[in-house]
Amino acid sequence: MSDEILKDALNLHAGTVLSYSPNGVMGDGKHAFCAGLRPQIALCEIAAKYGTDKLKHGYTLYYDKLFKNNRNIENFLELGIFRGASAKMWWEYFYQANIYCVDNCKPEKSSEELICPPSVLEELNLKQRIKAINCEQDDRVELTKIFKDIKFDYIVDDASHLQKETQISLAILFKNLISGGTYIIEDTITMYDMQLGNIRKRNGWGIRLGQPELPCPIAYYEANGKLRNESLFKDSTWYVLNKFIEAKIFDSLYLTEEENEYLTNHIENIEIIAAPQKKSDKTHSALERGKGRLLKDVWYPPIHQPLPEYTGTPNSKLKAGSLIIINKKAKDKQH
Ligand SMILES: C[S@@+](CC[C@H](N)C(=O)[O-])C[C@H]1O[C@@H](n2cnc3c(N)ncnc32)[C@H](O)[C@@H]1O
Repeated sequence: MSDEILKDALNLHAGTVLSYSPNGVMGDGKHAFCAGLRPQIALCEIAAKYGTDKLKHGYTLYYDKLFKNNRNIENFLELGIFRGASAKMWWEYFYQANIYCVDNCKPEKSSEELICPPSVLEELNLKQRIKAINCEQDDRVELTKIFKDIKFDYIVDDASHLQKETQISLAILFKNLISGGTYIIEDTITMYDMQLGNIRKRNGWGIRLGQPELPCPIAYYEANGKLRNESLFKDSTWYVLNKFIEAKIFDSLYLTEEENEYLTNHIENIEIIAAPQKKSDKTHSALERGKGRLLKDVWYPPIHQPLPEYTGTPNSKLKAGSLIIINKKAKDKQH
């Protein structure tokens, strides 16, 4: 196809000078156009096309800011496949990367529903550059074996969101990040009920199903600026990461000494982006419905604070659905 026809198809000005890289990606100096005809569009549009809920949660807006100048990466990994929407989104966005994705294809612990059957992995694996793998996110032996020779530019954990599994995945896979790479954990919340083993009685977000709110740790934190009972949260990802931010020491109850030491030595910094999702989102607006109440002389106020629109608010810490951005040290800073 001639450059003139291509420019016409892409609505480019007739005077635009096109150039081609050795791997077939064509550009006009400002934008890259994949495979000759696919314009490089923003992540939110691609998310809408494939239907991942990362769009309504506001995550893609943030991700686009984070990744847009570095789409030309080699390897990307996401934990958690569901129906494959985000795997396809990453595949289109990182137009020449290998997209690895992992799911255990088991019924979800909170709902007992099988939401990612093996057929989804089979369909994804038909696409060149996608490698969909059936594995537990916390299987140290298997994951180390599978990714023995692979280094990822970015890793996103959108799998079980349970404390133990999330932290073990981080320990295993942080070693597979390139120096200067970024590891992201989605939907990190306090998981209050999961801490207490009440997972069946409430939904996965720590909110009681169809019952009045118990004094909620989020409300207490909002009102007092500290946790009511820190010991209940000691194993939570939120707690461990905040302790790292304060003391620069990674200390997870679920990790070996060697794993904690590796993370302590290799994490450059951690940023907590509170609740990027929009206020209208159903799941998260449940957080706003709490009733205030007096309990043992302590007033727990109603949770009426609107969840923020996306602004990136690193200092407001204890909100549902936070994104955690963990950057790895550049090589010369590692010890
Ligand atoms: C939130 S969904 C992933 C959504 C997907 N990333 C998207 O945006 O379209 C979570 C997925 O994690 C998977 N999962 C849950 N626990 C897991 C575990 N222990 N290991 C691997 N995958 C797990 C579930 O089967 C489910 O498909």
